[in-house]
Amino acid sequence: MVETITIRRPDDWHLHLRDGAMMEAVLPYTARQFARAIVMPNLSPPVTTAKAAAAYRDRINAALPGGMDFTPLMTAYLTDDSDPEDMAAGFADGIWVAAKLYPAGATTNSASGVTDIRKIDAVVAKMEEIGMPLLAHGEVTQDHVDIFDREARFIDEVAVPLLKRHPALKFVFEHITTRDAAQFVADGSDRIAATITPQHLQINRNAIFKGGINPHAYCLPIAKREEHRLAVRAAATGGSGKFFLGTDSAPHAKSAKESACGCAGIFNAPHAIEAYAEVFEEEGALGRLEAFASLDGPRFYGIVPNEERVTLEKVEVEVPAEIDDGTEPLVPYRAGTMMRWRLASA
Ligand code: NCD
Ligand code: ZN
Repeated sequence: MVETITIRRPDDWHLHLRDGAMMEAVLPYTARQFARAIVMPNLSPPVTTAKAAAAYRDRINAALPGGMDFTPLMTAYLTDDSDPEDMAAGFADGIWVAAKLYPAGATTNSASGVTDIRKIDAVVAKMEEIGMPLLAHGEVTQDHVDIFDREARFIDEVAVPLLKRHPALKFVFEHITTRDAAQFVADGSDRIAATITPQHLQINRNAIFKGGINPHAYCLPIAKREEHRLAVRAAATGGSGKFFLGTDSAPHAKSAKESACGCAGIFNAPHAIEAYAEVFEEEGALGRLEAFASLDGPRFYGIVPNEERVTLEKVEVEVPAEIDDGTEPLVPYRAGTMMRWRLASA
């Protein structure tokens, strides 16, 4: 008999859907697995107003293939000029559920991000007051700071002082990659949580350089040393309730990845839940997959978990080498390899 595991339908608490033809191509992969997703606002131009967020949400809903059940949860892109009252109004109106902090220059489409955390202090104070979560791309950006140290430096230089000034702020340390970030979140209050991607559970930094430069293993924050991967795995599978699923699926056209200056981002939406299942199985923690994927995120965000159930079967499935549904080919995470689990179709 095939081994199976049935869990509540999961959600993705960190996702890049892009826009236009790319969004239409990638959306069904997420909607196949996840009931809801926190949709990142780093479009070009970024989603800084409630009006733009509502229009983007409507475009996503319009692109959803008939019969698929999926709800996008929108976010605001913070800039030096974000206004506390606008932020609160969009939250009160149910247009966005959180705001995203991109330190300027940290990653894809972050040029309009925040240049100094102090500049958004009034916005953060408002978010603290109304219970609106701040989602942080937790990396410092100075050229003299080594790329592998940028997440750890963010803790001392940005997160600690910020949370000292705003102790009641709901704060998500997005896509953590280090022992330092896992420890910081574990030691923090219940208002502090973290998302974890499949790739940061499965690859260390060797993957980027094995046999040559591998652009499809390049994302930000960049994969770290093995010791960090192991610490992040322990956090994800340890059952603390503070670490939950966020794929950070970040599609870029194959041509934009395989270029002299390849974009950061790993497109993991096609087999994300299967990859997480592998990790939890390897850690002897399949019984905790449901909490990580389907319960701890909703609890943090104050949203009810999904009622539907999905089943994963221990059946091998091959990840395609390339996905060609849109205008440009995409190379998915784990392209051409076998996944040990398969999401049974409903
Ligand atoms: C993301 C993207 O491409 O939008 N890239 C990535 O490497 N993760 C941005 C981000 O989340 O840093
Ligand atoms: Zn991201």
